[in-house]
Amino acid sequence: MTSTPLDLDNIQGDILVGLLKKTETFYFFQISDDVNAFRTQLSQLAPLITSTTAAMDHRKTVSQSKKDALAQGREPPVVPIAGLNIAFSQSGLTKMGITGDIGDVGFKNGQLADALALGDQGSTVNGKFVPDWIPAFKNAIHGVMIFSGDKQASVDKTLAEVSAILRVGAHDATIHEVLKVVGAVRPENGHEHFGFLDGISNPAVEGFDIEKPGQGAVDPKVILTGHDAILRPAWATDGSFLAFRYLFQLVPEFNLFLKKNPLPTDSDGNRLTPEQGSELLGARMVGRWKSGAPVDLTPIVDDPVLGKDPMRNNDFHYNIENDFTSQSRCPFAAHTRKTNPRNDLRPEFVTPHRIIRRGVPFGPEVTPDEAQDNRTHLGRGLLFACYQSNLANGFQFVQKQWANARGFPPKSTPPGIDPIIGQLNPGDVLPRSMSGTNPASQDELLGLPIWVVPRGGEYFFSPSISALRDTFAL
Ligand code: HEM
Repeated sequence: MTSTPLDLDNIQGDILVGLLKKTETFYFFQISDDVNAFRTQLSQLAPLITSTTAAMDHRKTVSQSKKDALAQGREPPVVPIAGLNIAFSQSGLTKMGITGDIGDVGFKNGQLADALALGDQGSTVNGKFVPDWIPAFKNAIHGVMIFSGDKQASVDKTLAEVSAILRVGAHDATIHEVLKVVGAVRPENGHEHFGFLDGISNPAVEGFDIEKPGQGAVDPKVILTGHDAILRPAWATDGSFLAFRYLFQLVPEFNLFLKKNPLPTDSDGNRLTPEQGSELLGARMVGRWKSGAPVDLTPIVDDPVLGKDPMRNNDFHYNIENDFTSQSRCPFAAHTRKTNPRNDLRPEFVTPHRIIRRGVPFGPEVTPDEAQDNRTHLGRGLLFACYQSNLANGFQFVQKQWANARGFPPKSTPPGIDPIIGQLNPGDVLPRSMSGTNPASQDELLGLPIWVVPRGGEYFFSPSISALRDTFAL
């Protein structure tokens, strides 16, 4: 554990706390050729950036107003809150003339160059792999601003302030928009589009968070740059790498698959109705029921009270009974088990690969038409975002070495790939499949269509506020 206290006024707020949001806009931009003007304007932008301290204050204000309202027997008011963070890609740093080796190969090369290794679908054009991404992500993106708020009007207000500083839309604009994507908390509060409660499990950062049962703690150096032994320029201290992925979810198709493949029995051998069997299959693919209750703790029936109890809903380790060797409670390849295998491995093999996730859903709810013909007509999914101090240990590792690897975690029955996000690693020609979904026949492989389609992404660096003000700004 590091002994120096973290500089909470210096670290951007989305990393350790998360910007408070009902709605969140990711604004991807390119810097114009008047780089000096842009860098001069950064000194006006820097004070608008939400620090960790400010993000904590936002949370306190909202929870206090909820408590007050409860005590007075009235509905909690909507407290106007707006947040802003900024991060740059390697091409953005290069454009700004910010030099110095930041010590991360994945960041330097960018995500487009990594798409093949991540397993994204695509084709070879003139001997070069081109992923099936939307055009915006196939060209250089210099940076991203993340605007968050309690409502769109709060986001729009900050967006207008920032646009005025950067002269967006004017002849002397110093940036131009490449893509603006709007995410929002779904009506089913906190649940992603497949219907599962999300945002439950992130590691506690030592010296900052109070660790909840089962959460697991990491040294700040796992998330923040400049706290480890890697040699980096001084301006790279108190930053973090942000892996962004534009992930589309095929929700009606996912629902149809569950409907068509109900589990006949649960792990106690009880016969299930088709509805129960479909619900259990979904829960075993994710590792949690839709309520958030972990199947490792409650493998037979959902327990919504457990699902929303932060002191219990993360307190499991895949070591109850004989769960290390059998998939009775939770399949080895379940999404949560693949991405955080807990006691399946020794802590030193898990902790360096923990990431802090800050995604938000985008797109409309499934329409009656889509539900009826079991096909996606409208784009929806997850604006996946996660922070780590080292991309090769964090996002890249979790996606390539864990989610996509059929043999992970190492068990006598090969687990197969992560049913939610697993993709085919280069050279893997077999169809997507996993074992262990059926508790009565655990070696049986279940073929898995694709329901999460990556359509773009980039690796960014979220610098400290002092780096932004003193090094990046002129
Ligand atoms: C956990 C859904 C993409 C890594 C979860 C949970 C859900 C979920 C429902 C359980 C709730 C929780 O523990 O917070 C999804 C969906 C995705 C997606 C629908 C795509 C559309 C990803 C990606 C990664 C990832 C791309 C990383 C490569 C994780 C991790 C956890 C998690 C690390 C926490 C596991 C734990 O600590 O138990 N996800 N996820 N997810 N996901 Fe994802």
